Amino acid sequence: VNMKKIIFTVLAVFVLGVNHLMYSQMLGSNINLIPSPKSIVINDGSFTLTNQTKIYFDQYSRKVADYLSEVIKPATGFDLKPEIWNGMMETNSIILSLKTKTNEYGKEGYTLVINPFNVLIEANELNGLFYGVQTLRQLFDPYINSIVKVEGIDWILPAVVVYDKPEFEWRALNLDCCRHFMEKDFVKRYIDLLAYHKFNTLHWHLTEDQAWRIEIKKYPELTKKGAYRTYEDGTVYGGYYTQEDVKEIVEYAASRFINVVPEIEMPGHSLAALSCFPEISCTGGPFDVGTLWGIYSDIYCAGNEKTFQFLEDVISEVVELFPGKYIHIGGDEAPKVRWQNCPKCQQRIKDENLKDENELQSYFVKRMEKFINSKGKKIVGWDEILEGGLAPEATVQSWRGLKGAIEAAKMGHDVIVSPTTNCYFDYPVETTDLRKVYYFDPVPEELSFDERKHVLGSEGLMWTEYAPQQFVDDRLFPRMLALIEVIWNYPQERDFESFRQRVQNHYRRLDLLDVNYGLETKPFEITKTFNPSKNIYDIKVTQLQKDIDLRIGSFVSELMINKISENEFQFEIDKTNLVNIFFQKGEKKVGKTYAFGISFNKANRKPVKLSYPYSEKYSAGGIEALTDGIRGSDSFRGGDNTWQGYYGTDFEAIVDLEKPYTFNKISLGFFQASSSLVFFPQYIEFYTSVDGNEYESAGKVEIPSSLKDPDWIQRDFGVQLNDTYARYIKIFVKNYDEAPKWHPIAFGKTWLMIDEIIVE
Ligand code: ACM
Ligand code: ZN
Repeated sequence: VNMKKIIFTVLAVFVLGVNHLMYSQMLGSNINLIPSPKSIVINDGSFTLTNQTKIYFDQYSRKVADYLSEVIKPATGFDLKPEIWNGMMETNSIILSLKTKTNEYGKEGYTLVINPFNVLIEANELNGLFYGVQTLRQLFDPYINSIVKVEGIDWILPAVVVYDKPEFEWRALNLDCCRHFMEKDFVKRYIDLLAYHKFNTLHWHLTEDQAWRIEIKKYPELTKKGAYRTYEDGTVYGGYYTQEDVKEIVEYAASRFINVVPEIEMPGHSLAALSCFPEISCTGGPFDVGTLWGIYSDIYCAGNEKTFQFLEDVISEVVELFPGKYIHIGGDEAPKVRWQNCPKCQQRIKDENLKDENELQSYFVKRMEKFINSKGKKIVGWDEILEGGLAPEATVQSWRGLKGAIEAAKMGHDVIVSPTTNCYFDYPVETTDLRKVYYFDPVPEELSFDERKHVLGSEGLMWTEYAPQQFVDDRLFPRMLALIEVIWNYPQERDFESFRQRVQNHYRRLDLLDVNYGLETKPFEITKTFNPSKNIYDIKVTQLQKDIDLRIGSFVSELMINKISENEFQFEIDKTNLVNIFFQKGEKKVGKTYAFGISFNKANRKPVKLSYPYSEKYSAGGIEALTDGIRGSDSFRGGDNTWQGYYGTDFEAIVDLEKPYTFNKISLGFFQASSSLVFFPQYIEFYTSVDGNEYESAGKVEIPSSLKDPDWIQRDFGVQLNDTYARYIKIFVKNYDEAPKWHPIAFGKTWLMIDEIIVE
């Protein structure tokens, strides 16, 4: 009797009735799989991999057998050369077989049977075998992921029967290589991490306002000039992928069963291309490659035939490089202001009998879709492509909530459901935490049973405005684990605590894979209370993220930290200090460092009068915030609400020190976040007075412009005095009257963010 037949008869019985056993079984064992398989049965006994183990492939499965041999070699030191399988269930063997064709696994499903004698992975296609191998990797000790040989470990696999297949076919992460350039090896590593977690699609964002990153032979200017941006101080930033690089990456991805979907943005997010070819804009330019984040008004001219010639030439080269069926054409965030004022665009609207600029966008996308379809490819576009009429064959990627997905699916279009609320991993964990991703449901309730089949899946978005290469892991992990759990397994019953426990165990693998994962959630709450009787600030920190070590450091003097309960810490601050809070797992730092300052100075808790109101949106808790001794934190948007915002007004404050003092310095803290229209002021004037009637100038500070710096910067500006004796201090801060013309959001008012007034 053929052993294999017996195994499969038994397996068929398991598959029918075991789905619900999975969680409890996995919890009670050392088995810890992410994503969870559809079903797993744990049996007694185990299989031990040795340097004598045979890896067998059948006629078609050599590629995956070689991959298995390759990934287990570094840690085990075993050089297991795969051999062709003779069909016998030999002992001490791992068999990868495509021989049994049964449709129930689908293209990506597999069965994995481990018993004390051998291991059998079966699938309909190589994709499935590959995922069987990924499951196998996670069944070994985490040290299997070591890149150096590990001594003294038995490479044991528990006896299990796994039946597994993904719920959704679109399991993607994107990588924005425009806002920050990602090196080729980094992209490959990213692909490896996707594959390890059973993602199958890399959405590769290659063109933007701030860069054009893919070589186009017909237009070398695109990468010669368009791949680099120049900052005000002359610094040049950039890089690009040659077509050879692209081929190498696409092939590498294919070897890991990952399809690469290139995104070539149109009609918006195209300033880098326009800087090379201003004649295909509406105004004619000239333009520089963008240096700030946001939405630029200049987009491709829809009335100019040259625009379509250019894009068709680009697409013609792109389709040759990407064998997959999808080309992402972007379509998001295209302001219509240039089209409204462009004779060519207006002529096109007339000629084509279009109603408005939304229909012009629809004309643009439909025309490009027709061309892309003629090349045998399908388009994907962001949900804005619904506006003005959807292109006939388009797949819609819904990012502004679920609305676009619902509308498109109801029209019979395929959709990718990736709303900002759950899928944007560039958002901080304070707004999008692990739990929120875990409870994400990519299938909107509003869809009927039939409409649901249009939900291809979901995608995690890794935009990189604030994440250069070295911070990508921090944003991606652990949240991508929750996303893949949802889109691979699609658990109907969700138990976050049990999932989180598996994540804790998974960190050991990520450590060995050298992944610099970030935090799971907003890691702590903090209160800072002034105690007048002791003249100290009483600080309480409540740790919210579990299973991690909270560390509190200080720049000036040592702090006495009291641990008042398992997750509560208390300390006092009795002099000006800068405190930082961060997290460690063992020796490894996890997540960012949070910092806050306390200032002891003569303005502390002194009354302030304001000439202009602050914004209620950035109140910092009220007027007292300006002299409460608590400095603005390292994020003007942070939940701690320490910055006071002034929108479109200047700032003028009078501080009454309540009696005359001698002092030598007055200063004020500011925040700049140019992309969000938060700027340092134009200038600041300082005045002092003894009686509150007659003010004397104490100096003026002109702020050297650093407006185009996209980074968040915090700075104090002030005047040095010489034993000035006064009771009243007046500070006038000049805001910009309106957003500068070069700014992507080149209209409206600007912000001042202020805290704290300091008199020393
Ligand atoms: C997007 O995040 N603008 C698609
Ligand atoms: Zn135009």
